[in-house]
Amino acid sequence: MSMTLRRLSRAATAGLVAAAALTAAAHSAEAADTLGSAAAGQGRYFGTAVAASHLGEADYTATLDREFSSVTPENEMKWDATEPSRGTFTFTSADRIVDHAQSQGMDVRGHTLVWHSQLPSWVGSLGASDLRTAMKDHINGLMGHYKGEIHSWDVVNEAFQDGGSGARRSSPFQDKLGDGFIEEAFRTARAADPAAKLCYNDYNTDGVNAKSNAVYNMVKDFKSRGVPIDCVGFQSHFNSNSPVPSDYRKNLQRFADLGVDVQITELDIEGSGSAQAADYTKVVEACLAVDRCTGMTVWGVTDKYSWRSSGTPLLFDGNYQEKPAYDAVLSALGGSGDPGDPGDPGDPGDGTASCTATYTRTADWNSGYNGQVTITAGDEPISTWTVTVTLPAQQSVSSLWNGTPTWNGNVMTVKPSWNGTLAAGASTAFGFTAAKNGSDAAPTVGTCTAS
Ligand code: XIL
Repeated sequence: MSMTLRRLSRAATAGLVAAAALTAAAHSAEAADTLGSAAAGQGRYFGTAVAASHLGEADYTATLDREFSSVTPENEMKWDATEPSRGTFTFTSADRIVDHAQSQGMDVRGHTLVWHSQLPSWVGSLGASDLRTAMKDHINGLMGHYKGEIHSWDVVNEAFQDGGSGARRSSPFQDKLGDGFIEEAFRTARAADPAAKLCYNDYNTDGVNAKSNAVYNMVKDFKSRGVPIDCVGFQSHFNSNSPVPSDYRKNLQRFADLGVDVQITELDIEGSGSAQAADYTKVVEACLAVDRCTGMTVWGVTDKYSWRSSGTPLLFDGNYQEKPAYDAVLSALGGSGDPGDPGDPGDPGDGTASCTATYTRTADWNSGYNGQVTITAGDEPISTWTVTVTLPAQQSVSSLWNGTPTWNGNVMTVKPSWNGTLAAGASTAFGFTAAKNGSDAAPTVGTCTAS
């Protein structure tokens, strides 16, 4: 299909979808018991990052479709995914996400146009004038393809350094085009899709600090000179080293006072239980307290696919059960769900035994390695568990401890030896030694089942 036809058909679909979105909103107003509908009641969107590769998984898609009103492609719109070689655009995976979102009446955030990371090496090898042209072509290519279909674009991502300097981060764009590359990117973006909100997005800018001050000064300068910018995204990746800042709301508000919208764009908070729930509440309350905070996006549907999966940072566990953090968010959004009701599917106390399994390599040598699989019970106590581990074909396991394996080809199914009984949220682990026989690849851990 030619580019022109594809654009036309994308635009035609978008029109139909706008009508579907209105119907969905009207319907859900009656029972505000999902994240998306509760947020809509507050005039906000509630989104999630989505990976195209998981859309075929029924539980993933059911949770996504039920709960969220906006999606951000987690990797599929990045430069390496969309323009792997100069002038050759590939939109297959990103289109899958956008089409899915539209079929469900969800909005789409665009992420991201100009970023130093996930950038193909050809970009870094261009001279300044070619690089400027390539940057503009890339913006026009992406924004043209999705014209009218993206509510907000992260035009430039992570252009400032961490630490106390407030300086720009070194990147091909910064190093060859200078500070002005950000302004050039925003001006190009405005012309490419005047309907999209244009955001600057960054991390460690969530509280008032040297880095957020530097972004603040840039936005202030853009507003004073008429450089087109509509929003600032606060990634909000939190953990014990980088907790939810106490001046989060104040920081969001000072940006809003410059005349831009603010959005929480990649929220995840490592932890569990009531402490994690309390941190999520702080974030939602901060956004709701700032009129121009137009929406929140969590960086994934389920802990098991999080880019920080060992930190269990999201609202649904690996079995798509609602965590205490989910209930906290829903209630902070004023949702009329029934958090914690044992009768609700997904709530703690619903009687569903569940577990998650994560893999780490604990030792490594030329010819072999030790692997460990950690099993964590969900919201209910469990009395046994089963995990499958698929090894690369060449590899063979010579010993396994704290578990009982049975074999089918290169798939081992492991049940407990002595360690089947786990309290809610508790963990155990089994380990094994494998011979590489020429393959250093990691095994794949399948779904954990429990009873
Ligand atoms: C992450 C994705 O979640 C991972 O799957 C990928 O391997 C690396 O990028 N800041 C951003 C996001 O703006 O694009 C990053 O997403 C997380 C940090």
